[in-house]
Amino acid sequence: MSASGSQTVPALRCQGVVKRFGALTALAGLSLEVPEGAFFGLLGPNGAGKTTLIRGAVGLTRLDSGSIEVFGLPVSGTTAARTRTMLGYAPQEVALDRFVPVREALVLHGRYFGMTRRDAAARSDEMLRVFDLADRADSYANELSGGMRRRLHLARALVHGPQLVILDEPTAGVDIELRRDLWEYIRRLHADGTTILLTTHYLEEAEALCERVAFIRDGTIAAEGTPPLLREQFGAGRLEEVYLRLVGR
Ligand SMILES: Nc1ncnc2c1ncn2[C@@H]1O[C@H](COP(=O)(O)OP(=O)(O)O)[C@@H](O)[C@H]1O
Ligand SMILES: [Mg+2]
Repeated sequence: MSASGSQTVPALRCQGVVKRFGALTALAGLSLEVPEGAFFGLLGPNGAGKTTLIRGAVGLTRLDSGSIEVFGLPVSGTTAARTRTMLGYAPQEVALDRFVPVREALVLHGRYFGMTRRDAAARSDEMLRVFDLADRADSYANELSGGMRRRLHLARALVHGPQLVILDEPTAGVDIELRRDLWEYIRRLHADGTTILLTTHYLEEAEALCERVAFIRDGTIAAEGTPPLLREQFGAGRLEEVYLRLVGR
C-alpha cells in the first residue's frame, strides 16, 4: 500500500443529512466522515441529534434528504443488507430479551447475521469469555446485574464481527469500574482494527481515547478534528472548554 496513492473509502460517510420530525429539524444537512480504523467520538448535548444520526447510519431511520454510506455502500436501497452486516450497533437503551439465556441471545444474534450455527456458537463463547460472562451463560437477562446487562448488550453488538461498531452512550450511567472495563473492551476492539464510532458525555475519556472527535449541535457538525488540534484551534487546555464554547448552552 502506498501512502500517497490509494484513496481509502471512509468507514462512514454522511453527506447533507436532513431528518425532520414534524416541525422539528433533528439533522440539518449534516456531513461527517469517519475514517476506516478510527476511534471516533461524537460529542454534543442531549437533543443535538447524535442518536438520530446513528439510527440513520444503521438503517433504522429514513432520511428526508442526504446520504449515508458505510465503506462506500449506501445504507438504504439494494445494499442495505450488506451494510447491516458490516455494522455492529449497541443502542443507547439496553434492551435484552429476558426470556432468552445469555449464550443463546448471542448465538441467535450471530445466526440473524447469517453465521452458521457452529461459527455463531464459537464466536458467542469467545464473547462470553471476553466480557466475563462465561459463568452466566445459562442465566436469563433479568437475572443479571446492571453491569452484566451492559456487557451483554455490548457483546451482542460484536458477535458477527462487524468492521464498524457504533456505540450510543456505551458508558452512560455505569459505575467507575465498569466504565473503565467497557472502555478497555472498546480499546482492544479498536486495536484489532475495528472502526469505532461512539457518543459519550465523558469528555476526559473521549479526550484520552478518541483519535478524532466531532461536536454536534442543532443537527450539524460544529467542529471536527483530533483533540490536540481542536484544543489548539480554540486555545483551550481541555476538550471540555472546546465543548462549552462550541455547543454549551
Ligand atoms: N422519534 C422521534 N420523534 C420526534 N422527535 C424525535 C424523535 N427522535 C428524536 N427526536 C428529536 O430529535 C432531536 C434529536 O434527538 P436525538 O437524536 O435523540 O439527540 P441526542 O441523541 O443527541 O440526545 C431531539 O429534539 C429529539 O426530541
Ligand atoms: Mg442520544
